[in-house]
Amino acid sequence: MNLDEPALGLAGEARRAALGAYAPYSNFRVGAVVVASGGGHYPGSNVENAAYGSAICAEANAISTAVARGVRKIEGVAVACIDAEDADGAYPCGNCRQLMNEFGVEWVIVTAGEGAEVRRHSFEELHPHGFTL
Ligand code: THU
Repeated sequence: MNLDEPALGLAGEARRAALGAYAPYSNFRVGAVVVASGGGHYPGSNVENAAYGSAICAEANAISTAVARGVRKIEGVAVACIDAEDADGAYPCGNCRQLMNEFGVEWVIVTAGEGAEVRRHSFEELHPHGFTL
């Protein structure tokens, strides 16, 4: 756990990104911000669909946005589930962890709504032995 200024700032950016969520089915708004190795920040939110399985996670959205702009190395990702009661319900899903694995993510910041705990984990802690070809 680390509550330094940069981590808190990124938690705020992720919460802001969650305000753009399209989540009329789950009412569970998630925001993510990718921090690229070059220093750029790329936000994303979850985007749901009437065909539930077509939903896009916030992390996948942010990672896709960054990669589409040329990013190939990601330092870290901050995630905020602003409708979760606490950070325990706010961890990235397995699919998103594998997406992070592809681009060398080193750390993940996890938080929930305003005032919730902000946690920082090494990526290795969340996704050991990720798949590579
Ligand atoms: N969701 C994310 O955006 N990221 C995650 O890591 C887990 C779940 C979204 C998908 C869906 O729109 C909503 O949260 C409820 O599952």
